[in-house]
Amino acid sequence: MPYESKPSSPRHAVRLALAAVGAAALLAVTPARAQEPVQPIAPHKVTNPAKVDLGKKLWFDPRLSRSGFISCNSCHNLSMGGSDNLKTSIGDKWQKGPINSPTVLNSSLNVAQFWDGRAKDLKEQAGGPIANPGEMAFTHDLAVDMLRSIPQYQAEFKKVFGNDKLDIDQVTNAIAAFEETLVTPNARFDKWLKGDKKAITAQELRGYELFKGSGCVACHNGPNLGGTSFQKMGLVEPYKTDNPAEGRSAVTGNDAERFNFKVPTLRNVELTYPYFHDGAADTLAEAVDTMGRIQLGRKFSDKENADIVAFLKSLTGDQPRITMPILPPSSDKTKRPQPFE
Ligand code: HEC
Ligand code: HEC
Repeated sequence: MPYESKPSSPRHAVRLALAAVGAAALLAVTPARAQEPVQPIAPHKVTNPAKVDLGKKLWFDPRLSRSGFISCNSCHNLSMGGSDNLKTSIGDKWQKGPINSPTVLNSSLNVAQFWDGRAKDLKEQAGGPIANPGEMAFTHDLAVDMLRSIPQYQAEFKKVFGNDKLDIDQVTNAIAAFEETLVTPNARFDKWLKGDKKAITAQELRGYELFKGSGCVACHNGPNLGGTSFQKMGLVEPYKTDNPAEGRSAVTGNDAERFNFKVPTLRNVELTYPYFHDGAADTLAEAVDTMGRIQLGRKFSDKENADIVAFLKSLTGDQPRITMPILPPSSDKTKRPQPFE
């Protein structure tokens, strides 16, 4: 059965969203371009390198999954823009995932985590996939037992947290500290925002003007060009999909928020295809065409579409430079993975 959104008083909603952007623009005063609804990404300052290092190990450690094969990086591949480039992800025992994997790059800048915002921050989010039967299919207890069975992990947790607890709270805390480093500053567009007029081409600038002028910024604003609010998918025209995800109403129980999703970031969007929560749009041209039509009631010409796509590609920033961590080996006591049972 196809699912679709019910557009409700779109003009009102767009006006509200635009008013919010106006307010945000007034508040966010950056010296170079105070009036822009988009701000540059600031580089992350690491305050606790030992914790980040531990978090990086956990991020790459497939032993946090039942199969011993799936790590956070399996579905948020840092070699591919922090996503898996699949329509929906593949979980334990090759299960078909229910929804498209969002990028983890710059996700620390989002108001909440997940498409429906059900986790308030990165730390709360990180416990989810480990115990999700459709993802890593482990339990928090088994994950902690595994880590406690490895002397080098024990020592590292003790060094970072100053005690012998080694519990799931420390695990998610360290993973979140690593994820906070995954920001992508210095996109060409950010250089332009900071005053380097030559950093983007004439076509990219035309695309940005159209992005602002046609109303995309009502929802895609702030340093992440998204991540600041939940909005209806299909504001002006219904969005049709086979994907059963309900969006925000699944969290709040408020039916009026059905099909409201967290506005995704457009940072590094050229790397994070396919697009939308159902992964239905394979290309940026298709995603831009759909957005124009169903969110703004506007059909872009091929040239306009190409201009916006060119602008979106100027949002690719410096990707995190990751040295692959060498994970501490399992001990004789470590429970062995169960990939096939
Ligand atoms: C099997 C694939 C898979 C694995 C493994 C996985 N994730 Fe995810 N991740 C997803 C999917 C799919 C979503 C979106 C789910 C939703 O919104 O309902 C997601 C969402 C997220 C988000 C939210 C991003 C945002 O902007 O909303 C973060 C952060 C994240 N994952 C981090 C992690 C961490 C940390 C781990 C390892 C502990 C992990 N993921 C393991 C597939 C995966
Ligand atoms: C009313 C709010 C709103 C407006 C206006 C809007 N968007 Fe979106 N945009 C969203 C939401 C919500 C999603 C995620 C919807 C989903 O996947 O169900 C999204 C998704 C996207 C995506 C896919 C990102 C990804 O990683 O999946 C792109 C690209 C995009 N928008 C570009 C644009 C452009 C370009 C415009 C202007 C032509 C625009 N949007 C206007 C709310 C909006």
